[in-house]
Amino acid sequence: MKILVVGGGGREHAIIKKLKQNPAVTQIVALPGNAGIAADAECVPVRATDIDGIVDYVRANPVDFAVVAPDDPLALGCVDRLHALGVKCFGPDAKAARIEASKVFAKDLMKKYGIPTAAYEVFDDAEKALEYVKNCPLPTVVKADGLALGKGVTICETREAAAAAVKAAMVDGAFGASGSRVVIEEFLQGPEVSVLAFTDGHVVKPMVSSMDHKRAGDGDTGLNTGGMGTIAPNPCYTPEVAARCMQEIFLPTVAAMNAEGCPFKGCLYFGLMVTADGPKVIEYNCRFGDPETQVVLPLLNSDLLTVMRAVEDETLAQTPVEFSDGAACCVMLASGGYPGKYEKGKVIDLGKAPEMAELYHSGTGRDREGNLVTAGGRVLGVCCTADDLKTAIDRAYAAAAQVKWDGMMLRRDIGKRALAILNKGEE
Ligand code: AMP
Ligand code: GLY
Repeated sequence: MKILVVGGGGREHAIIKKLKQNPAVTQIVALPGNAGIAADAECVPVRATDIDGIVDYVRANPVDFAVVAPDDPLALGCVDRLHALGVKCFGPDAKAARIEASKVFAKDLMKKYGIPTAAYEVFDDAEKALEYVKNCPLPTVVKADGLALGKGVTICETREAAAAAVKAAMVDGAFGASGSRVVIEEFLQGPEVSVLAFTDGHVVKPMVSSMDHKRAGDGDTGLNTGGMGTIAPNPCYTPEVAARCMQEIFLPTVAAMNAEGCPFKGCLYFGLMVTADGPKVIEYNCRFGDPETQVVLPLLNSDLLTVMRAVEDETLAQTPVEFSDGAACCVMLASGGYPGKYEKGKVIDLGKAPEMAELYHSGTGRDREGNLVTAGGRVLGVCCTADDLKTAIDRAYAAAAQVKWDGMMLRRDIGKRALAILNKGEE
């Protein structure tokens, strides 16, 4: 079988490595892939947002199945276009992808169907939003409506900060058209949990839970990033919380999408906060998370392609989705300066890391001499699994210590909080 994977980051690398475990998969093509993915798939330089280019490629080079991994092509209707060519796909159509692409759509859906989330107001008019933040409860959270590379959210402790966030999004256009509409919402508190779930629009099968580390600095300080590391499973996601999520969030969300006439098929990502009032939705994503996928898929015991095809064929109810009882840790290695300005093109020395861990390439390339070089903010995910979380973390950091480049940056505390929670539980 020939499989097409749209995307070129660590998440796609993890998906490709998992798909390769199926012996029926004879060829994988990544559009555009990256220097690390090139070891596992044929990379063709078509950008993931170039939907016409992707369609042209598939017309000229038929594939048996396509996986559209990133949010942008999903929101742009890549799956709709591939379906029109008769290609079976994994991923939601554009209508269903609105659950991520428009925060207003997602918030209104949750309100209409009673799915627990932060209270909110929507504003199209900057004057009205500025008036609102003069009296709203603090802290407050200002979110750009559309896709903003995870950077459209500002948590504001003061009225001045809230007014500045509104102005940045609505007046200065800091997030482009994404920010012409904003959601201003209640600040929630509690541990965050990421749950990726397979759904075919009929049943929902959650994957092992995970914990992202979004801030750039140790101890959750500094700016928000695309994710500096992950662990799975997340110790805050107890069986009780999981049962409530299934009844109060997962099943109602799938039913709500059906009722709205946009059934969701693919991987639905629930960004959850376990508050004193129970679990609530912070955000939905219409795709696998990055770097959550890098810790979740290594723990999947079932065949990924079989599950993805069952999602497309709406036979997920009959298809087992099983995970190991082990744990995983992914430490993200980033370019110095990320998520602000950073340099590219630094030569990477992997040392013995490839023998010690699974390396998922996010932003890597080759220079003229063929050296592996940095080509993005987040560069390399170093991932290890083990029977227990502490061993997985220790292994990932031992492998990460092998990797060197000029200006390399990493968080030293991935999984530290999860371990503290586990240890407290055992006392
Ligand atoms: P989002 O892009 O919506 O996931 O937001 C990015 C991050 O901002 C989340 O992972 C949370 O850490 C934080 N956040 C978003 N919304 C809220 C909220 N209502 N209350 C507290 N923190 C939030
Ligand atoms: N790790 C968060 C995301 O994929 O959106």
